[in-house]
Amino acid sequence: MTVREWIESEKRPFGWFTDTEGQAYIQAVKHYPKGVIVELGSYLGRSLSYILPAAKELSCEVYAVDLWNWEKSADPTVQCPPCSLKLFQRNLERMNASVIIIVSDSVKAAAQFHPESVSLIMLDTTHRCDDTLREIDAWWPNLKIGGIMLFHDYGRASSYWQGRGDHYTFVKEAVDARFGKPEQVTQSLALVTKK
Ligand SMILES: C[S@@+](CC[C@H](N)C(=O)[O-])C[C@H]1O[C@@H](n2cnc3c(N)ncnc32)[C@H](O)[C@@H]1O
Repeated sequence: MTVREWIESEKRPFGWFTDTEGQAYIQAVKHYPKGVIVELGSYLGRSLSYILPAAKELSCEVYAVDLWNWEKSADPTVQCPPCSLKLFQRNLERMNASVIIIVSDSVKAAAQFHPESVSLIMLDTTHRCDDTLREIDAWWPNLKIGGIMLFHDYGRASSYWQGRGDHYTFVKEAVDARFGKPEQVTQSLALVTKK
């Protein structure tokens, strides 16, 4: 199957987010009706595709932050569709979804939001420890008390990445350094709440 055929045939956009992680993401959205949701690293919209119906039903505002200039996938076993803003927008249209797009570096985008204004932040960008720490530090003040921060690829075994840079295992290191253990981990989706 060619990449194009794959994109066309998939029910959801191409990506690595699993159905089980999608359900956990939906539960986090339901925690805060009428909330503000920010996703850092949306790629083609797969993770968003799980939550958009619930977000619409609960009148949440959804922001997608990404540079859409990712050159290569982190997963060497799969030939990935290009990281294209146009493809992302087309996928949103297909899902009939309303998402506010912010083309920006994830850390810089934090300055566009007020302190304690966001109810849910999902991080899924480079998976590097230093980047994740910077994202946590930039975005944590923007999270409401009682708000949730989610991290994808928490604790992925390094074998998953087939030696393509150990930094991909370091989301866990960053999260544990800032918060101790997360409150909940669903497959590779970790959750912490701002108390
Ligand atoms: C693993 S993909 C995200 C997958 C997506 N959540 C999904 O479910 O398909 C990582 C994304 O992070 C984006 N990214 C990488 N570094 C970034 C940065 N510094 N600022 C914003 N986005 C970044 C890439 O462009 C890419 O789209």
